[in-house]
Amino acid sequence: MADGSSETKSSNQMWGGRFASGPDAIMEEINASIGFDKKLYAQDIRGSIAHATMLAHQGIISAEDKDKIVHGLDTILSEIDSGAFDFSRRLEDIHMNIEARLAALIGPAAGRLHTARSRNDQVALDFRLWVKEELQKTEKALTGLIAAFLDRAEEHAETVMPGFTHLQTAQPVTFGHHCMAYVEMFGRDRARVRHAIEHMDESPIGAAALAGTGFPIDRHMTANALGFREPTRNSIDTVSDRDFALEFLSIAAIAATHLSRLAEEIVIWSTPQFGFIRLSDAFSTGSSIMPQKKNPDAAELVRAKTGRVNGSLVALLTVMKGLPLAYSKDMQEDKEQVFDAAESLELAIAAMTGMIRDVTIRADRMKAAAGSGYSTATDLADWLVREAGLPFRDAHHVTGRVVALAEQKGCDLADLPLAELQAINSAITDKVYGVLTVEASVASRTSFGGTAPSEVRKQIAWWRARN
Ligand code: ARG
Repeated sequence: MADGSSETKSSNQMWGGRFASGPDAIMEEINASIGFDKKLYAQDIRGSIAHATMLAHQGIISAEDKDKIVHGLDTILSEIDSGAFDFSRRLEDIHMNIEARLAALIGPAAGRLHTARSRNDQVALDFRLWVKEELQKTEKALTGLIAAFLDRAEEHAETVMPGFTHLQTAQPVTFGHHCMAYVEMFGRDRARVRHAIEHMDESPIGAAALAGTGFPIDRHMTANALGFREPTRNSIDTVSDRDFALEFLSIAAIAATHLSRLAEEIVIWSTPQFGFIRLSDAFSTGSSIMPQKKNPDAAELVRAKTGRVNGSLVALLTVMKGLPLAYSKDMQEDKEQVFDAAESLELAIAAMTGMIRDVTIRADRMKAAAGSGYSTATDLADWLVREAGLPFRDAHHVTGRVVALAEQKGCDLADLPLAELQAINSAITDKVYGVLTVEASVASRTSFGGTAPSEVRKQIAWWRARN
């Protein structure tokens, strides 16, 4: 790469004017971000083309220089795309790597690109564009995951399983209903993504170093060219704000936490002891020593990725918390956290979508477990309230005695003879057996948002119209 300056060979060609010598090797190492911010090359080039076009339109640079700049930037884009670009750590970051290459390609006109701009608004722009695109990808990925769950929920609207609290059998629910709980969670994640896109849809370019510029720039024009709704309103805030990155990480951490809870359920459900699901070969691994094993590695890794994503959020919050306005170099540390979290989240959503699409549901095992653990005890209590007029607290007590009896005899509630039930409470009739089955239990729970198949189907239809 040509170094057209007359400075000593080692001083920086972009800002070395007042420096007599170049940086110490350690300075170069701690300062350089090119190792990770090269990911922003396409956004950087897009931003520079919009900026140069606006400068020419406003008469700040000539049309001829603008054409050279745009042509040169197009060349650089294809060089980087094809892997032919030679990134240099001496040039610190993606912005200066591209500008130096532009100078080598088109000569002095390259020096006009940085008019009315600073790396501070430049990096704010590039990073914002990148995060916005990532949010758009996340929105699509979540839509795919929700679609996978809707299909499984529809298939299993009638499949009974135990519902848990404290991971103890609580009341029977349907697997479809359980799937729809995740649809709600991922639906909220997607709503947060959409809100964040709207929130961050303002263009930073033109804030310059921090105070704006005296050049007659048109920030609405660049905002429009780059697909933003409008320019940001305060130049100081613009170069010091990383809320958009923090919002991305917060949303990612919540979504990853949802994915992790699901991963945990998959791990538990695929054990032989539960046996509720069988993972596909495509999303499990074997053991090198125990031939019988099929391990839920994908689910475990989704669970673990959540630690990385949560860590990234805390890392960037910590970077930002002590910074005075406006830009400080600390903010260069924003990118790796976001890149890593984005990669982890993308992979986690993709793996989970695959697992949900492929998993075999063992309805027989779910049903057998649904009836165990006296899961219909609440139905018995409710029956005593409804049919025998007992206050709920008394009904709860009577049911407790019935459960104790069943436990003592080692049988299910439905297997207790009527005479023994009546010995506990004389108001009990043989009609009670109608509510003691798990199917009757779930079918009865028709309250809005409840587990009855009829209700779950309504919720599926509501989401289908919105997915
Ligand atoms: N590489 C820098 C970053 O990522 C670009 C901005 C540098 N600005 C500055 N004033 N040194 O934050």
